[in-house]
Amino acid sequence: MSLSIHRPTIAQVLHQSYSGVSATDTRMLLQGVLDVGHAHLITHPDQVLTPDQEQKFNSFISRRINGEPIAYLVGEREFYSLRFEVTPAVLIPRLETELLVDQALERIPARGPSKVLDLGTGSGAVAIAIAKHRPFASITAVDFSDGALIIARMNAKYHDATNVCIVAGDWYTGVAGEEFDLIVSNPPYVADGDPHLGQGDLRFEPRTALVAGTDGLDCVRRIIDSAEDHLIRGGWLLLEHGYDQAEACCQLLRGAGFGEVFSCSDLAGVMRVSGGKRGSFLAQSC
Ligand SMILES: C[S@@+](CC[C@H](N)C(=O)[O-])C[C@H]1O[C@@H](n2cnc3c(N)ncnc32)[C@H](O)[C@@H]1O
Repeated sequence: MSLSIHRPTIAQVLHQSYSGVSATDTRMLLQGVLDVGHAHLITHPDQVLTPDQEQKFNSFISRRINGEPIAYLVGEREFYSLRFEVTPAVLIPRLETELLVDQALERIPARGPSKVLDLGTGSGAVAIAIAKHRPFASITAVDFSDGALIIARMNAKYHDATNVCIVAGDWYTGVAGEEFDLIVSNPPYVADGDPHLGQGDLRFEPRTALVAGTDGLDCVRRIIDSAEDHLIRGGWLLLEHGYDQAEACCQLLRGAGFGEVFSCSDLAGVMRVSGGKRGSFLAQSC
C-alpha cells in the first residue's frame, strides 16, 4: 500500500477550512507551495502533496493565522499585470499605486526618449511597470534601503528592464546634478502613531517604507522642496499620498511654484495621487 494515501490531495487541502484564513488565501498559499497557477489546482484535484509540500503548506497556514502577509509568504505580488518578487525588506506593491503608473504613462511619450525618476522604488514595481510600457524612456529608481535595492535589481533583471537604473540614495542625493522630464514617487506617508501601523500587513512591512513624521508628510515635503532642481521646465512631479492628504499635497505643490496642480482618485474613489508641472500655472483636476 502506498504511503501517499495518507497525504492530502489538492482538493482536500482546498476544501479544508483554516481559522481566520480565507479560501482565496488558502488557494494562493497552495499555489505558492506547489509553484503552480490557479488552473493547475482546478485540473489536478487528485494530486497528492509530497511530505515537504505538506509541511511547507502547514507552516504557511500557521504563519498566515499569525497575520503574515500572503505576499511575503509566497514571495511575490502582481502589480500592473507583472510579477514582482517581494520580501519583508520592501513594501508590498498596492493596487492603488497602479494609478500613479497610469498618470505617469499619460505624460511620457510612447515613442520618444524621456528621463524619469522614481523616488523610493522599493521592489521597483513603479519604475519597472513604467519601463515595460515606455521602452524608449530611461528610468532611474532610487531607494536608501540596501534590502530594497537588492530586490528592485532582481525584479529589473527578471523583467529584462534594461532601461531601468537602480541607484542608492537619500531621495535626490543619488541623482545630484541630474534633471528629469518626470518624477514619480510613492513615498512613506503614514503618520507616526497612526493606529493602522498596528494592523494587517502594515505590522510586517518596513517602517521606513511607511512612516513619515507626525503628520505623514515629511517625505512629501522633502521631495517637493527639492523637485525644482531635478525637473526640466514643464516637467511633472507626481506623488501618491494618504486618503486625507490630497489638499495638503496640492498646497505644498503650489507653494513650491508648481502649476496645473491636480489630484486624482483611485478605483475606490479615494484621492490618491496629486501632481503639478514645473513652471506652469493653470489649475486642473481629473
Ligand atoms: C511606500 S514605499 C514605496 C515602494 C514602491 N515604490 C511601491 O510603490 O511599492 C516607500 C519607499 O521609499 C523608500 N524611502 C524612504 N525614505 C527614503 C529616503 N530618504 N530616500 C530614498 N528612499 C526612501 C523606502 O525604503 C521604501 O522603499
